[in-house]
Amino acid sequence: MTLIACSKIEIEPCDDGTNLYTLADYPIGVAADPGALNFISEYRDIAIEQFNSITPENIFKPELLHPQEDQFAWEQADQLVEFCQEHQKRLHGHTLIWHSQIPGWMQTFAGSNEEWEEMMKVHIQTICAHFKGKVSGWDVVNEAFNEDGSLRQTIWLENIGPSYIEKAFQFAHEADSNALLFYNDYNIAGEERKRNAIVNFMTDLKMRGVAIHGIGMQLHISISYPSERQMEDAMRQISDQGFLVHLSEIDISINPNSRDIEPTERRLQKQANTMVCVLDSYHQIPIDQQYGLTFWGVGDGHSWIPGHFNRVDYPLLFDEAYDPKPVYCALKQSL
Ligand code: XIL
Repeated sequence: MTLIACSKIEIEPCDDGTNLYTLADYPIGVAADPGALNFISEYRDIAIEQFNSITPENIFKPELLHPQEDQFAWEQADQLVEFCQEHQKRLHGHTLIWHSQIPGWMQTFAGSNEEWEEMMKVHIQTICAHFKGKVSGWDVVNEAFNEDGSLRQTIWLENIGPSYIEKAFQFAHEADSNALLFYNDYNIAGEERKRNAIVNFMTDLKMRGVAIHGIGMQLHISISYPSERQMEDAMRQISDQGFLVHLSEIDISINPNSRDIEPTERRLQKQANTMVCVLDSYHQIPIDQQYGLTFWGVGDGHSWIPGHFNRVDYPLLFDEAYDPKPVYCALKQSL
């Protein structure tokens, strides 16, 4: 068992001469936005050279793709599709059904149960049909569970009922039967009630013939949470049920308690060792269930965490100057 060693292992300095993705047996992805890809050369170079899978950080979300009921905005998304085709990157679609970043018209939609279902169907199927053959998979439903394992109160639950999850998967599958379909959420490792509820729910759908292929563990984690054991258990529990496992939005906070901190060598080493522990767990699941890793941003200067949680943090592989950090070397060393 390498689990004890992962938090102690010595991280060797590394150069950034070899591309990350060429070292891995599965895709290594990054969340990206077309604006930054077009206008920031360092960001673009790293995205092209280091990663072979892309998740749109925002532009595939309902409020941006489907701003009005009768209007879809494809332009920026299509640019990203072109970028992926030109550079041979896998494109992972994120996300069809969520409670956040939804357009105003959807939030105030007035209709019967059937009309809500029809609205959800048109939303999902128009988008899936548009990107058919261009995306490898979809996060069909994102963050539908609370930490206690109950279903989150959302417009979808309220207006369609708990069957909205299963229906969302069915609609996506009808529109693009080749796409791999995922349920995606955070704290799956650390919150065991949430994890059990999700795994049981998705296993039940799968056993009843619903096309659900994988579970995305977002892994917005920190240098102190979750434990190595929880990470290992979660990945095993999901893969034991036959699901693909996507580590779908990785970032490792070095400041989970929102202090006024500096990125000291000690903290950056702990972050690097946490990466080793993640990889140790991931490598214990069967290779044909490893859909890949996706980091939630190129460098610390673009992370969503400081803005969203109002704290300083340094959670990604590259620093604000786009230089590789110890966590990058730890990843290279462990792939
Ligand atoms: C975040 C983006 O990174 C931010 O730019 C945006 O302002 C808010 O959303 N879980 C998810 C992602 O599934 O879509 C979120 O992305 C981060 C949390």
